Amino acid sequence: MKILQSKNSIVKSVNPVVLLLTEESIQKHTIYKALVKAVPDSFKAKEKQFYVAETDQPPKFVVLLGLGKTSDIIIEKIRKAGASAVNVAKSIGFVKFSVYVESINSLPEHDVSKALSEGIVLGNYKFDKYKTKEKDSGEKIIEQVELYTLADFKPVIEAARVCDIVNESRDTANEGADIMTPIEIAAIAKSIAGKYSSVTCTILDKKQMEKMSMNLILGVSRGSEYDPVLVILEYKGAGNEKPVALVGKGVTFDSGGLNLKPSGYIENMHTDKSGAITVLYTIKAAADIGLKCNIIGVLPCCENMIGSKAQKPGSIIKSYSGKTVEIGNTDAEGRLILADAFSYTVDKLKPETIIDIATLTGSCMVTFGEHVAGMISTDEKLAKDIFDAGQKTYERVWQLPLYKEYEEEMESEKADIKNIGSKDRYAGTITAAAFLKAFTKDKPWAHLDIAGTATTDKQKSYISAGATGFGIRLFIEFLKAREKKK
Ligand code: BES
Ligand code: MG
Ligand code: ZN
Repeated sequence: MKILQSKNSIVKSVNPVVLLLTEESIQKHTIYKALVKAVPDSFKAKEKQFYVAETDQPPKFVVLLGLGKTSDIIIEKIRKAGASAVNVAKSIGFVKFSVYVESINSLPEHDVSKALSEGIVLGNYKFDKYKTKEKDSGEKIIEQVELYTLADFKPVIEAARVCDIVNESRDTANEGADIMTPIEIAAIAKSIAGKYSSVTCTILDKKQMEKMSMNLILGVSRGSEYDPVLVILEYKGAGNEKPVALVGKGVTFDSGGLNLKPSGYIENMHTDKSGAITVLYTIKAAADIGLKCNIIGVLPCCENMIGSKAQKPGSIIKSYSGKTVEIGNTDAEGRLILADAFSYTVDKLKPETIIDIATLTGSCMVTFGEHVAGMISTDEKLAKDIFDAGQKTYERVWQLPLYKEYEEEMESEKADIKNIGSKDRYAGTITAAAFLKAFTKDKPWAHLDIAGTATTDKQKSYISAGATGFGIRLFIEFLKAREKKK
């Protein structure tokens, strides 16, 4: 979608105009008085309330969008207002509209513009490529929005670009498991490297992984007809500086393996690749806006299936690191593939920091629902920086403790470590992290569990149904803030 700036007077707009009004501003708002003659008394500019006024000359339609009380305005409400504007516009059949931007409360005009563009671009997304009917009869997609503002527009364009890329990531994550196979994810990585000279891509195939004894990734993928891949994407935006490694879980379908998931739990497991997809498009976004940092994306991609070749509960597998792992449950597969990816990352890629992102545990959904990602970290400063980026983007994270007692729960009678805790599902998010920690070689590390935030069943404002793209805006914000501190 095109987001354009206009420095003209809004009363000259030929396209429908959206005005944001707070409960307090409704009486004294000069622009809206100039555009709209009469508004029903029932319109009080309460949050989510809107009124569409028709005028006899251009812009013909003026949409008044309520924001609620001035004192309650936070940037997230502006993002949501952007999504509401899109929804109202679509329901009337507009393909273009204009928004009048002004500072609200303590929020400066440039922040309002940026948040609006995020809400508009993200709110315009729907995964409907497989709908054959609805498309021509129903809603149109918004093609262009003009923001009437004099504020510096470069950050707004950049935010809109990032959100376009978030939408692309949603398409990829929503795609079915027999289409978005490991090799297909590798193909997208290659195309990103082809498009940007700052990005290079290396793919390790099954044979190469066999040579290197990446037996945890190979073990998880044994039951699948699709071969595993390890995708390594390198983004260089800051010379020879040590990179941040972003490692993403890329399970293209998680059946649970021989510890098969039951009905009600298995249906959406094509989105179990969301961590990897987030890393893939974070790199694309970084390259697109030219972040001044170095990133390495590491994506272990495979499918966790059943069948005569599938790995069995109770097996002991020697990881790439040399540590032996007892497979207590084949459905705890994400930590297995991340473990080999971590060892490879530390060994070969020499990162400064490792951050992984994964739809790792159902337990994380029990704790946080869909609103917050679980975070576990061995580095308080890193954790704080990620937390802060979460507050800014509203892709929020909350830290859980990793006390040594949790690590002790991962001990195995027969092998060096077990992939499930001795207390069964107790503190499942933390014990999963305790397993991962054993493969970080004490590098500063943070783990993000996005089992709850990566998908949602119904659209909520600018968060689409299906894959949400959670984590890309968070990472970009984190990397930008880190760049500024140097
Ligand atoms: N992919 C799941 C986690 C998950 C669950 C993601 C629900 C999104 C929604 C993961 O591989 C898994 O199955 N974890 C198990 C671990 C258990 C066997 C220790 C879980 O959380 O039940
Ligand atoms: Mg390239
Ligand atoms: Zn699983």
